[in-house]
Amino acid sequence: MSEFAYRNGVMHVEDVPLPRIAEAVGTPFYCYSRGALVRAYAAFAAALGGLDATICYSIKANGNLAVVRAFAELGAGADVVSGGELERALAAGIRPAQVVFSGVGKTRAELAQALAAGIGQFNVESEAEIETLSALAHARGTRAAVAIRINPDIDALTHDKIATGRASDKFGIPWPDARVAYRRAAALPGLAIAGIAIHIGSQMTSLVPLEAAFCRVADAVAMLRADGHGIRRIDLGGGLGIAYRFAVEGQSETVPSPADYGAVVRRVIAPLGAEIICEPGRALVGDAGVLVTQVILCKRNKARAFVVVDAAMNDLIRPALYGAYHEILPVRAPAAGAERAPVDVVGPVCESSDFFARERPLPPVAAGDVLVVASAGAYGAVNSSTYNARALVPEVMVSGNAFAVVRRRLTVTDMLALETVPDWLGERPVARRGAA
Ligand code: LLP
Repeated sequence: MSEFAYRNGVMHVEDVPLPRIAEAVGTPFYCYSRGALVRAYAAFAAALGGLDATICYSIKANGNLAVVRAFAELGAGADVVSGGELERALAAGIRPAQVVFSGVGKTRAELAQALAAGIGQFNVESEAEIETLSALAHARGTRAAVAIRINPDIDALTHDKIATGRASDKFGIPWPDARVAYRRAAALPGLAIAGIAIHIGSQMTSLVPLEAAFCRVADAVAMLRADGHGIRRIDLGGGLGIAYRFAVEGQSETVPSPADYGAVVRRVIAPLGAEIICEPGRALVGDAGVLVTQVILCKRNKARAFVVVDAAMNDLIRPALYGAYHEILPVRAPAAGAERAPVDVVGPVCESSDFFARERPLPPVAAGDVLVVASAGAYGAVNSSTYNARALVPEVMVSGNAFAVVRRRLTVTDMLALETVPDWLGERPVARRGAA
């Protein structure tokens, strides 16, 4: 992560020292590097160079308007999974024709919204959805361009909760049923078959399952074309992983690069002569963001040493939800040869699952120190909540020597303003003299 580097012992994001941002906006906050976003996009685009391919950035990974705008500027399309994400994509400047709408449970209202917006493709996942979409499009006097998402029954060999291509997962239409589904869809008045789609999982660190899924798609394309369907577009989904472990010598992860991914696309998919869509999320934003937090206090019991920080599981839920590993780096570089001792880095939320690291060897830290939780650009801020009445933290973007708050900190006043006490609950109780 070259945009996040120590200079004179202080962590910088591009040309801005992180402590300067911490002083300006307070902690905790998310910080993104525009340079890192651009670099990740360029690597992905280069990997697909020369192919008839579109990168539809998966908004769910990080939907901040400034982040999406940075990709829109580079020519990206978007993969959205809700009406809200569709609005975000369009507000950020993505062209409707470059929007793909995925998801297992789109409502009628969302389908109608997307039809009205004139999006490029609906990735449909069930017979029921196929019929609803056809009826809605037909009523509008149009045909919706659809790709049917098939479930190839392939295990992505990733965390169980983010594998989506096994027969037991809720996603897609089982591949043995594809032929019938295409025949029915082709007969409906409101649909135009555009292609086929898959997405077998996220944070894949091996390309073997992906290649197996691509091969299954290639077989399906041949069969569907033989049946007379015009399969002119192949949507390969997302899923390429990033290296979350990189700081400890001998323990760094190696993950396939976008170029390795591109080589598989070239080998298996390009010969089919179709337009290709990729929906990367994490691979474009994961390394481009960090969560910055300050140490509130340190405490110790017989079993463990705890570093209690001001960010918590509501700000970044990945460790609690998936046992995910994120590197934790002090904003001020530790002295050369500083000893590392195992600590639990935890937040203030009242749950034992509220941790960022367990028994992690860290150099000495003290109250007031600022720490960086690395690789938090994907599925970080988007997955945050206000649990424990904690306000959503700001998001900041750096470009060169400039930085801007791209989402302000929510306040508790903002939160209370959304709520109402019905008048039948009566007056606010007045404290009585002598009452406990
Ligand atoms: N396309 C579809 C249809 C998806 O469901 C997803 C992610 C993507 C593309 C983008 O996948 P990526 O390139 O980012 O792997 N919250 C989890 C990850 C959930 C992924 C959901 N689907 C996490 O923090 O690891």
